[in-house]
Amino acid sequence: MAKNEKYIPALNQNWLTPLYDPLLKWGMRENEFKRHLVEYSNLASDQQVLDLGCGTGTLTIQIKRRFPQLKLIGLDGDSTVLHIAQKKAEAAGLSIQWREGMATALPYPDASFDRVVSCLMVHHLIASNKVKAFQEVLRVLKSGGEFHLLDFGKPSNLVMRMISIPIARLEEAGDNIQGLLPEMLRRAGFTSIVEIWRFKTIFGELVHYRILPEAI
Ligand SMILES: C[S@@+](CC[C@H](N)C(=O)[O-])C[C@H]1O[C@@H](n2cnc3c(N)ncnc32)[C@H](O)[C@@H]1O
Repeated sequence: MAKNEKYIPALNQNWLTPLYDPLLKWGMRENEFKRHLVEYSNLASDQQVLDLGCGTGTLTIQIKRRFPQLKLIGLDGDSTVLHIAQKKAEAAGLSIQWREGMATALPYPDASFDRVVSCLMVHHLIASNKVKAFQEVLRVLKSGGEFHLLDFGKPSNLVMRMISIPIARLEEAGDNIQGLLPEMLRRAGFTSIVEIWRFKTIFGELVHYRILPEAI
């Protein structure tokens, strides 16, 4: 894990990491929004796919189960969550490559992936690192590639605005909740940013964006 930049682990504090999977499963109905992400990220068996900020690997494992032939890497900056992810994949008999690395300096050459998916990672990054991470995603995407991002977004009503206050204060979700992600993605060089789905949770409203380097 990088020592010289602000790093927020899965549940904000390292000692809470073992509670991450139960909280997501029972508190946020993760199965519903991760199933949606797997179905609507335009994935196919012949692709190279990066799950950016894969955490304990729940989404990565769902992708591999749905598309067993697809070449898949789960990358995260925290070796503790990667260890949990690896154990879960081994128990499920799935072969997935796990890699420790930072979203702001991806350890891959240009044009390496057909798809980059990222779920609930971006709200961990300070504003300048959000843009840097988006630039890195753009760099590693192949021509015709797609970036599918699911994270907290601008709440659509007053109740969701109130519910979103704690996450905005606790982590770096203020940019998300103010609706700044599309502008940050454009600043990083992406051209087409389409909101394709929303999902309400007890911590705020999640938005799935389909993001393309070129205009469609
Ligand atoms: C809330 S968890 C989400 C994990 C997983 N994608 C999911 O949906 O369950 C956020 C993850 O982002 C990782 N993360 C935070 N900052 C990162 C960075 N700069 N580079 C790579 N991973 C990062 C954390 O270690 C954590 O595992």
